[in-house]
Amino acid sequence: MTSGPKAAPTRKIAVYPGSFDPITNGHLDIVERAARMFDEVVVAVGQHPTKPGYFPVSRRCELIAAACAHVTNVRAEHFEGLVVDYCARLGATVIVRGLRAAGDFESEFQMGLANRDMAPDIDTIFLIPPPEQMFVSSSLIREIAGHGGDYSRYVPEVVGRALVQKNGGADRTP
Ligand code: COA
Repeated sequence: MTSGPKAAPTRKIAVYPGSFDPITNGHLDIVERAARMFDEVVVAVGQHPTKPGYFPVSRRCELIAAACAHVTNVRAEHFEGLVVDYCARLGATVIVRGLRAAGDFESEFQMGLANRDMAPDIDTIFLIPPPEQMFVSSSLIREIAGHGGDYSRYVPEVVGRALVQKNGGADRTP
């Protein structure tokens, strides 16, 4: 029996949405893990409705692109509107989120359920960042940087340089 022509395999695209203001090593770990699981990972930078924004969105995208340059199937992009609508436009079927601690669970679960309700064909998966970075968040980095502390082990080098520049060139990292 001869089989008919095989359908071209569909590329599995995942979207990793977030504020990334700025990207941290914890985020980067999630990106690298997702990149091993999917054909393409789009790090989607959104403006949170209540967060003021530290770096402009375009700068956040540049920093992500530079920090992820070693991962060939990853790109960074700005998005507006609902994540699920953005996924539909891209043909992405998976939303990736990082789950750092129990405190993240409640809000992530709520967002995951809302997204599932709005778009049943899109799955949310949660990946776990390195345990030693569990407490790190972008605002924590910004606060340490603002007071001249050493944040170098929490962020990619390119982000470290951007923070030094933003804080008037004061660098007290070793
Ligand atoms: N390492 C380090 N920090 C991490 C992290 C990781 N692996 N994972 C999350 N965080 C931190 C972030 O740095 C951020 O810290 P901050 O609050 O100090 O800035 C915090 O955890 C959570 O932020 P983030 O994951 O960026 O999400 P968010 O809550 O800022 O949401 C959007 C941003 C754009 C994803 C969200 O507003 C959104 O989806 N908007 C579109 C509307 C929509 O579709 N909503 C969902 C349906 S209701």
